[in-house]
Amino acid sequence: MALHCSRTCRQYLLHLAHDNVDFRLPEIKSLLSILGKPFDPSENFKEKVGLSPFWRLNGLCEDDIRHIMGRTVCAKSAFELWGHGGTTDELKSSLLKYPADSMLPFLQEKSTYKINVYTFNKTLIMNDRIKKIDALDFLPFKGKVNLKDADHVFCLLEDYGTDPNNIPEEPLYVYFGRWIADGQRDLIRSHSVKKRHFIGNTSMDAGLSFIMANHASVKKHDLVCDPFVGTGSLLVACSQFGAYVCGTDIDYNTIHGKGKSSRRNQKWRGPDENIRANLRQYGTERQYVDVLVSDASKPIWRSVNLFDAIITDPPYGVRESTRRTGSHKDIIRPPEDYGGESHVPVTLEYRLSDIFTDLLNFAAHHLVMGGRLVYWLPIYRPEYCEEMLPLHPCLSLLSNCEQVLSTHTSRRLITMEKTKELEKEDDLALLTDPRYGPYQGLDSFREKYFSGVTKRKEEEARTPADGME
Ligand SMILES: C[S@@+](CC[C@H](N)C(=O)[O-])C[C@H]1O[C@@H](n2cnc3c(N)ncnc32)[C@H](O)[C@@H]1O
Repeated sequence: MALHCSRTCRQYLLHLAHDNVDFRLPEIKSLLSILGKPFDPSENFKEKVGLSPFWRLNGLCEDDIRHIMGRTVCAKSAFELWGHGGTTDELKSSLLKYPADSMLPFLQEKSTYKINVYTFNKTLIMNDRIKKIDALDFLPFKGKVNLKDADHVFCLLEDYGTDPNNIPEEPLYVYFGRWIADGQRDLIRSHSVKKRHFIGNTSMDAGLSFIMANHASVKKHDLVCDPFVGTGSLLVACSQFGAYVCGTDIDYNTIHGKGKSSRRNQKWRGPDENIRANLRQYGTERQYVDVLVSDASKPIWRSVNLFDAIITDPPYGVRESTRRTGSHKDIIRPPEDYGGESHVPVTLEYRLSDIFTDLLNFAAHHLVMGGRLVYWLPIYRPEYCEEMLPLHPCLSLLSNCEQVLSTHTSRRLITMEKTKELEKEDDLALLTDPRYGPYQGLDSFREKYFSGVTKRKEEEARTPADGME
């Protein structure tokens, strides 16, 4: 019984990477939601959440932590927390209070161990590190030190705050714990688009693709769809986590891996440059369902409640056009304009506000209950307020994280969950309730983006370069 209590009262420490700061909390919460566990941080979490790279979590067991670390790209490592405090004395008294039955199995004579020192926002010389390790000699380590391949690894973690211009002499807070597992940051390097077989101008960065898959709580055997699939970066990330993946794109060349290459030193795409080959590159080809040429503004899927997650990066009209198919009666240009070809491509402008209205409707129809929609929304920052976010009666907003692109523009990663089946009255509400009206602010995003770029270019041209005055 006592053992049970000390197990459930354990606290774990997550050491988070200091990039993509805004995306960390929804990532960890989403990974916990796969286990059906709540996010239960230490009391002082609220004031620190934005910036601190160290989070103390309650109410979890070691298996939960291993699950999180098996997926996260935002956390670097996790520890069973043995002690912590604002000073080294506080750390010592906290460590001395840690239950012996939780410590001793890892300090046995027959086992080897190693202690690391990690400092955030300060670099220590080796001698200072050794002194800090020596100061832990009150802990009853009985085994031998093995720096190369220890049975148990411990870590002293020191937090020197987040201001690189104001680094304190002594740490603001210190932690000591037993290392449990590292996160999946290696995936960011191993899946870098720089080394990917098939890429395009708008291929999503590997780190953000994995973050999106995690925000969507993608699980093994889920079926995931990307309706604006492009070169399939989001499918690559989801397949890595064991989901079956499919997608659509209006661009025939992208889907079939034909046409001009996006690589600097290559004119045309090679024979096997396609999404399936990307999955093959990472050993997940068996997760590939298919991709097809299709317009996301048109309904093509028969079944409702089909996808466990919809993850996508819709076009903003900045590096790719926003278009949809039209009908021949919409043609206003004569056939000669198309080189006299018998097939006349009919495409119309696809307004950003319509893209997002259609996307939310698509999710409301085709997600299973509890399934998630994760997508990027372009934002003109001076005009943004949360009330502007597109809403739907069947979808609840879970998180909304900003990635700043310039002083005036950003994109927001929106995560919604299907919480209600679509009913007749929802169609009426969508037409009449102003809350569900199209997000007009979006339609001028492209002009505002380019006016910002143009303004910056003009300013740069006016500002004399260093040393030129
Ligand atoms: C931002 S890119 C997606 C990039 C993708 N995430 C990747 O990693 O390569 C948007 C994609 O939407 C496609 N698209 C534009 N309009 C579309 C439409 N009406 N229906 C489906 N796809 C469309 C474009 O061809 C483009 O490939």
